[in-house]
Amino acid sequence: MTTLVDATLIAADSALRTLFAPHRAGRACPTVPEPVQAGQNTPLSTEEKALAGALMRVNHVGEICAQALYTSQALAARVGPGTTAHKESLARHLEAAGQEETDHLAWCKQRLDELGSHPSLLNPLWYAGAFGIGLLAGRLGERVSLGFVVETERQVEAHLDSHLDRLPPQDHASRAIVAQMKADEVRHAKEAQQAGGVELPLLVQKTMRSAAKVMTTIAHRV
Ligand SMILES: [Fe+2]
Ligand SMILES: [Fe+2]
Repeated sequence: MTTLVDATLIAADSALRTLFAPHRAGRACPTVPEPVQAGQNTPLSTEEKALAGALMRVNHVGEICAQALYTSQALAARVGPGTTAHKESLARHLEAAGQEETDHLAWCKQRLDELGSHPSLLNPLWYAGAFGIGLLAGRLGERVSLGFVVETERQVEAHLDSHLDRLPPQDHASRAIVAQMKADEVRHAKEAQQAGGVELPLLVQKTMRSAAKVMTTIAHRV
């Protein structure tokens, strides 16, 4: 049986690893199409590199927040009401999706390094904010918590779509990563919905969009 202390330690360990340890992806980084590898590739200009770096930094922050959300929601599930088996199964569902987000985090960091860019300097702040929001969503009950996952993943999907429009067309490496992330986020939303996630009120959806806008605008720069 997982106690409150156990659950808190699991969450603290995850926070420290997300913010301060290098991440190892469980899956290989999505690859660049073969014709591009064979030399039909135009190098990125300095401006294009800077733009791609800023966009991948925003995506990296999104993945830091995803780690915080899944970890805090799993923590809330473990200490919430219900049978031990059921609570543990919900927490495991959230952690499994979080594991795929670790791949995203590692891929974004790898691409940031390749572009000569860097992660956001405010990552601890983003993590703390997202952790608090996830904890609140988790305390509102299983179906709301899963509904929050559905809405978050849908908004991330739309955001990644906009990045596919904005990334330089010849930045195949970033585009391959973003396209795979998008496919994963679509599946995360579907799985959370199938697990019983409810539709969140429009006002909540709008507030989430506004909060994400603040985060993406700042992370684009620092
Ligand atoms: Fe992700
Ligand atoms: Fe996701």
